[in-house]
Amino acid sequence: KFETPYVFVVFGASGDLAKKKIYPTLWWLFRDNLLPANIKFVGYARSDLTVPKLRDSFEKYCKVRDGENEKFVKFLEHCSYVQGKYDTSDGFQKLKQYIDAFQTESNNQPVNRLYYLALPPAVFNVVSTELKQNCMDNGDSWTRVIIEKPFGHDLKSSCELSNHLAKLFKEDQIYRIDHYLGKEMVQNLMVMRFGNRILAPSWNRDHIASVMISFKEDFGTGGRAGYFDTAGIIRDVMQNHLMQILTLVAMEKPASLNAEDIRDEKVKVLKATKIVELKDVVVGQYISNAECSHPEASQGYKDDPAVPADSVTPTYALAVLHINNERWEGVPFFLRCGKALNEKKAEVRIQFKEVSGDIYPSGELKRSELVMRVQPNEAVYMKLMTKKPGMGFGVEETELDLTYNNRYKEVRLPDAYERLFLEVFMGSQINFVRTDELEYAWRILTPVLEELENKKVKPVEYKFGSRGPVEGDELMKKYGFVFTG
Ligand code: BG6
Repeated sequence: KFETPYVFVVFGASGDLAKKKIYPTLWWLFRDNLLPANIKFVGYARSDLTVPKLRDSFEKYCKVRDGENEKFVKFLEHCSYVQGKYDTSDGFQKLKQYIDAFQTESNNQPVNRLYYLALPPAVFNVVSTELKQNCMDNGDSWTRVIIEKPFGHDLKSSCELSNHLAKLFKEDQIYRIDHYLGKEMVQNLMVMRFGNRILAPSWNRDHIASVMISFKEDFGTGGRAGYFDTAGIIRDVMQNHLMQILTLVAMEKPASLNAEDIRDEKVKVLKATKIVELKDVVVGQYISNAECSHPEASQGYKDDPAVPADSVTPTYALAVLHINNERWEGVPFFLRCGKALNEKKAEVRIQFKEVSGDIYPSGELKRSELVMRVQPNEAVYMKLMTKKPGMGFGVEETELDLTYNNRYKEVRLPDAYERLFLEVFMGSQINFVRTDELEYAWRILTPVLEELENKKVKPVEYKFGSRGPVEGDELMKKYGFVFTG
């Protein structure tokens, strides 16, 4: 008996994403026996490569442990390589022949196809078109296409790309990856909100004062400055990862856990979110810092030879978003992201309002906070007021702390990509970005991006390893909030 055949084709097999993320993820899933048995991992690129050469590029990222070597060799036996151009049909024809032969080998069972387009935007259209013309299933198996950002550069180019894809594939064939949706704590957001009676009634403007969604990295743009300078932190992180988190924090309860129900609710939040105005944005750019011990700190963003000397590309941004609906009116959503800051941390912080009718000495009660720490060291904790233990009557702020490392010692939290790849195999689009979601997310940020760029707004300088520009804190203070993290 032959098992159903699957091919997982990596376009751009010689690139960074393939070696650092895609192949290692496939290996981990393979190692843990989570993939179908009859599967081929096919690399596709223009270079003259072989499986051993591919292995040389990705092995070190696979973190193969003692005792796993034999299995790793098996994994490599499932790998193959097709060399081909991106803009002519010959390579795609070769790929088709490869898949046809695999079908014959598999007792003529139709092959399910996953195509991962790990490609620069310039070749994206032509590859997807060639794929459609040469490599689709015949209707008796399925084809799914996985794509990575950038999904366009602004609203217009993103819509063009979406229209192009819509001509080739059906929505349920398109898997747009936002890897933040594969993270444990991001997936936990819906459970926290909709699985706890205690939270649901207070999840609104009557009880919540503000929401802070924060992404900090303690390293600079490293070897990616060339790409980064064409994007900037708003496109790189805010438009996708932070916006996705915002929708999960703010959306109404979906009718069911069905992908369309969930994504419908996410779209509604985005539609209700006001277009961001320049007055609600602070942008920054890091400079070198001789006092910081980080090995890259001696290089400011513009010291990188790949960055033009007059670049105004932001490496830090804080934006205040406003959702115009009954649940959220008046509650600021602070979205903050930055590179070369004082720490690596991503979290969602829900700050509740003051207690009404405070009976404690003035200033003693602090606002309760619920924090979901996405990384590192996943945790959910609630900052609450409690009585200071002992003879006294004083109060103090303390934490109900669910740190995953302590509570779930035995559980390995999978990498975001592992989870998402598996979801593609299973055909679940819950954690993938739908076309309209993407469009509305761009709609919110495109005008301010254009204004920043047209006016060449100079980002505020901040030192490598610092908390970022004080102007960010000042903007939050204008709204009445002080965050020290
Ligand atoms: C990527 C951005 O999408 O996310 C990078 O392009 C960023 O600039 C990365 O470093 C962060 O991902 P993670 O999973 O390491 O937090």
